[in-house]
Amino acid sequence: MKLLFASLLLSSATTIAATDYSYQTLYYNQTLDHTQPFHPSNDRWSHRYLLNDDFWATPKDEDLTSSSDCPGPIMFYTGNEGPVDAFWSGNGFMMEMAESWGGLIVFGEERYYGPSIPSSDYSYMSTQQVLEDYVELLEYVKKEYKAESCPVIAFGGSYGGTLTTFFRAGYPHAVQGGLASSAPVGNYDPIGWESHGIDSYTFSDIVTKQYADADSQCLSKIWEATEIINSGNSEDLTKTFNLCDATGLGPNSQSELFLYGLEGLPQLNYPYAINDMPGWPVQSACDILTSSSSDTLIEAAAKVTGMALSYDLKGACFETLDEGPGNVPGDGPGAGPWGYQSCTETLHLFNSRGPADGGIREYNLDMSVIEEICKDSWGEFDVQPNTNALTDRYGGYKLGDGLVDVSNIIWSVGDIDPWGGGCFHPEYAKDGSEDDGLYYFVIEKGAHHYDLRGEHENDTDSVRDVREKERDIIKGWIQDFV
Ligand SMILES: *[C@@H]1O[C@H](CO)[C@@H](O)[C@H](O)[C@H]1NC(C)=O
Ligand SMILES: *[C@@H]1O[C@H](CO)[C@@H](O)[C@H](O)[C@H]1NC(C)=O
Repeated sequence: MKLLFASLLLSSATTIAATDYSYQTLYYNQTLDHTQPFHPSNDRWSHRYLLNDDFWATPKDEDLTSSSDCPGPIMFYTGNEGPVDAFWSGNGFMMEMAESWGGLIVFGEERYYGPSIPSSDYSYMSTQQVLEDYVELLEYVKKEYKAESCPVIAFGGSYGGTLTTFFRAGYPHAVQGGLASSAPVGNYDPIGWESHGIDSYTFSDIVTKQYADADSQCLSKIWEATEIINSGNSEDLTKTFNLCDATGLGPNSQSELFLYGLEGLPQLNYPYAINDMPGWPVQSACDILTSSSSDTLIEAAAKVTGMALSYDLKGACFETLDEGPGNVPGDGPGAGPWGYQSCTETLHLFNSRGPADGGIREYNLDMSVIEEICKDSWGEFDVQPNTNALTDRYGGYKLGDGLVDVSNIIWSVGDIDPWGGGCFHPEYAKDGSEDDGLYYFVIEKGAHHYDLRGEHENDTDSVRDVREKERDIIKGWIQDFV
């Protein structure tokens, strides 16, 4: 999911929301290890969080009143894999609600990202530790704001949406409801894939379909470009792609960076421009490729790669990525914190079809290769992926199927999002799930966690409609609680 992270970094560079929401950067002395008994001398570390109290206790919406018991709702972003400030500008929806309801906006940083580093090694990295950081952080913030009796609504996209789901399911006393957008919880429950209509190719098949749907010639141009790049001169390619050195092209073949960019772009297929990324960028990528002849196809491929990975072909050279190209589709094991998470709890057992089978990149997942990467990167901790760990602890498909006792969660998914396969879809919901406060929304032509973004003049009707429903549901949760 690092692809997503790269793109979020990009969108944080400037604020595109109609209203500019600022934040304070704060730190909390967080418990190092939530699984050990409390002792006053236990180690603590500096946990970064972002906060905005501009609207706190001053609701504009007359249905929601502020009282001394509860000045307002707490809108909490369950930070995911990346520095938390990178997620701020892509989450305008929760801020707009906070603005009208007198809410306090808080973004928790996932441990081991940004400056939130509990220890010099990864001994204390797990989803459980992350969620219990959030429980403790919220207790502290509530005390600071005299908001002990106020509801907390969690928001999260992608793995952050998975965290929101597990937060509400596992710690219902700490959070009264959650909006989990593009949360691929099902990906961590592979035993349930077949009965929920997905397989290991679903992610990459959705990627392929986006290119095929954008232009009937797009895939064949991608295949042609791949061949030309693979047989190209590496020095020339390094220059054309503006890489710092030839290793940046990919660890196994010269086309891997290009294909990595293409694989990530469909997640970002939003209808309007975000910084240097044009609106409907998949269409733009296809336009660039299909309007090029064989002579200029390498330049076109470099342009698409720069656009997809947000670097400038004329700017500073692009450093070699150490985890992405050639890896599991959507990113997997490697030397960074997400690589560690993939080597323990979050490995996606994804495959991808090559051109011979109509796809853009052939990738056949081989557990022995994965285990070797994990051993090379994390040998000292002796960790290996357990693809059932999160489901064992928090529940997988049973949560979305309404087979366990959870309530007050909205699951939303875009129908063009490659991560959508592992998300919870309405057709698997139990009858009457709304009575438990479980809701399932599909955003037509919606990319990755589109609904979490702030309102934009060029939003689709579908996202407007979904946000309106989400807003009503969340408001109801808050009114019921206070
Ligand atoms: C956090 O811990 C440090 C070191 O123990 C201490 O100096 C600091 O005052 C603490 N900060 C807060 C806000 O409690
Ligand atoms: C919205 O779309 C129109 C038509 O494509 C475009 O001219 C305008 O710049 C877009 N607005 C924004 C803020 O991107």
